[in-house]
Amino acid sequence: MNMYYRFLISELQKDAMKKYRVFSSIACVFVFVSAFIISTSGLHVHVDDLPTPVDGLSWTFYKETCPDLEDIVKSTLEQALDQDITQAAGLLRLHFHDCFVQGCDGSLLLTGSASNPSEQEAQPNLSLRARALQIIDEIKTAVEASCSGVVTCADVLALAARDSVAKAGGPKYPVPLGRRDSLDFASESVVLANIPTPTSNLTQLMSIFGPKGFSLTDMVALSGGHTIGIAHCNSFDNRLYNTSTGEAIVDPTLENSFASNLYSICPAVNDTVNTADLDVLTPNYFDNSYYVNVQRNQALFTSDQSLYTDSTDSGDIVDSFASKKTVFFKKFVLGMVKMGQLDVLTGSEGEIRSKCSVPNPTSSSYEEVIEPIVSTGKRSRSGHVHSEL
Ligand code: HEM
Repeated sequence: MNMYYRFLISELQKDAMKKYRVFSSIACVFVFVSAFIISTSGLHVHVDDLPTPVDGLSWTFYKETCPDLEDIVKSTLEQALDQDITQAAGLLRLHFHDCFVQGCDGSLLLTGSASNPSEQEAQPNLSLRARALQIIDEIKTAVEASCSGVVTCADVLALAARDSVAKAGGPKYPVPLGRRDSLDFASESVVLANIPTPTSNLTQLMSIFGPKGFSLTDMVALSGGHTIGIAHCNSFDNRLYNTSTGEAIVDPTLENSFASNLYSICPAVNDTVNTADLDVLTPNYFDNSYYVNVQRNQALFTSDQSLYTDSTDSGDIVDSFASKKTVFFKKFVLGMVKMGQLDVLTGSEGEIRSKCSVPNPTSSSYEEVIEPIVSTGKRSRSGHVHSEL
């Protein structure tokens, strides 16, 4: 081989090496970026990873009757959350408060009147967000425009809560559908008996979650809903003040700097205006930092902190969720899918409300009382119609 060919071959080899190095660096970057995206993106749970839905609900309930339902809900919700992501927390809490009282039947969405107060007027529901309720109405209107009289408000709420979690960075999961809407709402005493208070200890929390079929792991995972959203001072001021006298007495399980910050947010007892973030680290991002807060004594409610201070079993669950986001996400999804099927009405048990805030005028129980109402000009509580309507 003459000099010229040797030179040519060595140049070609150099060129190939150069290209190989460029290619391998691009491949490395690609692998790194993909790994980063996978590790930071939300978990996507498939139906095969979940238990079979309860009787009457199914994964494909509206496949024929409203095939675009999930797209309509998602796009309408995203428009609202693009304006204000904090409403994701409001929507998640609405679903929880609907399901725990009388089952996931949309009863929370019904409005009442002064003489006939609805669930919305019960104390634990006074801090629900009006805008979140409005977003449900907006989604329902969009759904009705495509599939009139087919989809219930209870299902819309379950989907909106699911999509809110995903939009805030949390896991994506399928929702069994087919819930019917209730004809009436629950009384204040039923709300009070079923919505846990933020001053609860672990035993009190499980006395509400246990009978509904939730395990300790479910309860700890669902409490992770407090990774987004806010609370008013009067929900946690039992940890800052003697609530009878107003004297400042700090809860010893509150970390010092966190407590000082809470005093600056809530300078007096029984403040129903000022708010603090539930998750001091990433307030609007659905991740596992709530559990890190709990470990650091920086959780807002007595109920949150009790998960760590009251038992080693629940404390171990907190530790596992704090150390691995995917473990939390998987358990949270199992808890949400279970919660979303609590005491559901199916088939002919309820109705498909056309407007989420009022029962249908044609529902059978309404018809039974419509005559006397029309003749006296007054409407009664038993007919689910409010006096001023
Ligand atoms: C474990 C028992 C629970 C207790 C004692 C509790 C209590 C509370 C309280 C007192 C507030 C704040 C109300 C206010 O002052 O504005 C709140 C907010 C919230 N809760 Fe819970 N909750 C519990 C479980 C859950 C569950 C299971 C979820 C959902 C899976 C959830 C989701 C939320 C969300 C997202 C917020 C923030 C709402 C907003 O920013 O509008 N909570 N909770």
